[in-house]
Amino acid sequence: MSSSDLRFNGRVVLVTGAGGGLGREYALAFAARGASVVVNDLGGDRKGDGKSSSAADKVVEEIRAKGGKAVANYNSVEDGDKVVQTALDNFGRIDIVINNAGILRDRSFARISDLDWDLIHRVHLRGSFMVTRAAWPHMKKNSYGRIIMTSSAAGLYGNFGQANYSAAKLGMVGLSNTLAKEGVKYDIHCNTIAPIAASRLTEDVMPPDIFKMLNPEYIAPVVLYLCHESCESNGDVFECGAGWVAQVKLHQSEGAMCMQRTGEFTPENVRDNWEKITDFTNATHPSGGAGGSTAKMIGVLTEFNESNKGGITTRPTAGGIDPTQAVGYKLQPKQFSYTRNDVILYALGVGAATSQPDYLKFLFEMNEDFCSLPSFGVIPAQSGLMGMFTENVPGLQGIDVTRILHGEQYLELFKPLPTSGTLHNEFTIADVLDKGSGALILMDVHSYDENKELVAYNQFSTFVVGSGGFGGKRASDKIKATVKAPKRAPNASMKETTSADQAALYRLSGDYNPLHIDPSFAAMGGFSKPILHGLCSFGFAVRHVLKTYANNDVTKFKAVKVRFVKPVYPGQTIQTDMWQEGNRILFQSKVAETGDVVISGAYVDLHAVSKAGAGEAAEEQQSSGPEVQSDMIFAEIEKRIAEFPDMTKKLKGVFLYNINVKKKLAAQWTIDLKKGASVYRGEPKGGVKPDVTLTVEDEDFIALAMGQLRPETAYSERRVKIKGRVILLTKLMHLLPVLYRSKL
Ligand code: NAI
Repeated sequence: MSSSDLRFNGRVVLVTGAGGGLGREYALAFAARGASVVVNDLGGDRKGDGKSSSAADKVVEEIRAKGGKAVANYNSVEDGDKVVQTALDNFGRIDIVINNAGILRDRSFARISDLDWDLIHRVHLRGSFMVTRAAWPHMKKNSYGRIIMTSSAAGLYGNFGQANYSAAKLGMVGLSNTLAKEGVKYDIHCNTIAPIAASRLTEDVMPPDIFKMLNPEYIAPVVLYLCHESCESNGDVFECGAGWVAQVKLHQSEGAMCMQRTGEFTPENVRDNWEKITDFTNATHPSGGAGGSTAKMIGVLTEFNESNKGGITTRPTAGGIDPTQAVGYKLQPKQFSYTRNDVILYALGVGAATSQPDYLKFLFEMNEDFCSLPSFGVIPAQSGLMGMFTENVPGLQGIDVTRILHGEQYLELFKPLPTSGTLHNEFTIADVLDKGSGALILMDVHSYDENKELVAYNQFSTFVVGSGGFGGKRASDKIKATVKAPKRAPNASMKETTSADQAALYRLSGDYNPLHIDPSFAAMGGFSKPILHGLCSFGFAVRHVLKTYANNDVTKFKAVKVRFVKPVYPGQTIQTDMWQEGNRILFQSKVAETGDVVISGAYVDLHAVSKAGAGEAAEEQQSSGPEVQSDMIFAEIEKRIAEFPDMTKKLKGVFLYNINVKKKLAAQWTIDLKKGASVYRGEPKGGVKPDVTLTVEDEDFIALAMGQLRPETAYSERRVKIKGRVILLTKLMHLLPVLYRSKL
């Protein structure tokens, strides 16, 4: 043998049913190449009746006579623990399991007895399970294992008179598929063979001349290679016989979206698409796991909803990440057409509300300044993103799409986004990084307008959990880097409470992942309820910066970069803390209720900081002190006022609340019902004098809001001080209970 020969020195191999036929050949071949072999055989007849130790003993003797190492085991594979124990007792470990033992009880289907069915399943499927389960923890402990399941062409394709056997044999393929997924992180591989060979099982089913050609020795080389540490195959199926070896894969047609644009889906829709459903011209071989098919369906549905054209098909993924093939790959370009309705729907989705008059220009098409929010620039770009997983991209295969996370986002605008039109989007895989625990895929998207001028550049960073370790680089010069937030106190801060239906609204802008609306789907992902889209929180945060530092002037926006850290649940308050460094506004967003940071390392680059914006920011800085509990109440009041604008309009008053902590002013809040209706931290803006000023301890304000302290008591005990037009406050007191439980 040469040094490049495949050796098994130090490896312990268990071959079940090794007293004859194929199993014997495997045992001899492994031993000849240095392995210690457990020769298991019950020694019954081919129908599974009787038992004898002589079959296993003879093979052990043969191996030993040639100088090899082997021990016998006479248990049935149904006693998997005992079979594996023989390996541990004699050789101290177990590295390789060949599930080979088998019997036949052929009958035409109607004549299969319960016993015929059960015995076949007990030996083939249950026996393979029992033996493999007994070996599994030892393999896991050693971080190494190679397992073979023995299936059959009868299982893969069906065979007359073998319904019991076919069912059990295909069951073993299913078992292997899942073990391959569960074992991969421990370097445990599981593959399946479907052999054809001359043995006592086949002697009466094959013509004698063919029987002679199918020497059982011709199967062992395949099994040995599959079990060698150098073989990377995992979860694969191979047919072999007479020296021929071929891999077998499931075949999936391109498929067809049968659902109609109206949402109708009937048996007739299926019939009418039958040709396409069954057309294998562009067939592929899915191998990404069961989640791959679910993800594919979601992908198809997403594209369907986005384009609303119907009949869209996509391709599944198959096996392995390879940056050398993937980087530079261009996906199918996509045209994205949108109308002013899409722009307005998006603005509503990211929290722009008519209660704030300066947002009308994002919400009302007749407004003279009507324009798109800059963050809308991610929407056209995401239209073809799923292609990364559905277009069979070389070097990006075998990805479990249920395990992808949106890691980071960069958006740069080269001109303000039109309020309607068609953008041509080009998608390029910019880089693929190996982060150990996962793969990071950088996707560059360039969006061009009808004049072929570049409007937007996006970089989506997608993290694929569990797909790392392919030996790629960890860093990239292509990535748009995040920037850490400074340690100093923020220069400005803005917060807004998302609505309970924020995700339900935002998804209509194109991300239809059920994770954001379906509680049972969210539960599968480990979330207590549907979560807000990362890009929705992103939209809130960009709007906060734009309002604070650019006076909502979209022409001032240049670029934004964010890292998504944690999800926001609809109904929570997003607080964006901002630090100005020249024209770069660094920011971080958190959930006000929990303090959890949800967006980090983020910045917006502006062409220029608006004077008014900077002034306001400075003003906010002055007034934004430490957080007080009452912030929560004002956030709630703000929400309620926005929901009932007609009620509040009548008051026409400006209310200033001084919130004290231990008698010292800790925060100020303004409820301004004169200029529209707004609630914000700090004194009334623009030098406006408050009509009423109310001073109260933080805890007392909470107690009042919760109905635990009566306003009369608070007033008579001088726990609340009121200055100005008390009558206005009385009116507000009447109004607020309608809006909120507070009596103040
Ligand atoms: P074989 O009958 O020569 O070998 C099977 C061995 O398994 C026998 O030595 C038998 O005593 C042993 N065995 C049966 N029940 C057992 C149990 N409960 N516990 C432990 N050992 C048990 O048959 P052959 O052809 O070598 O088959 C090996 C495997 O290959 C079987 O799983 C069979 O279904 C499969 N196969 C064989 C094909 C062929 O063309 N020979 C075709 C497709 C699959």
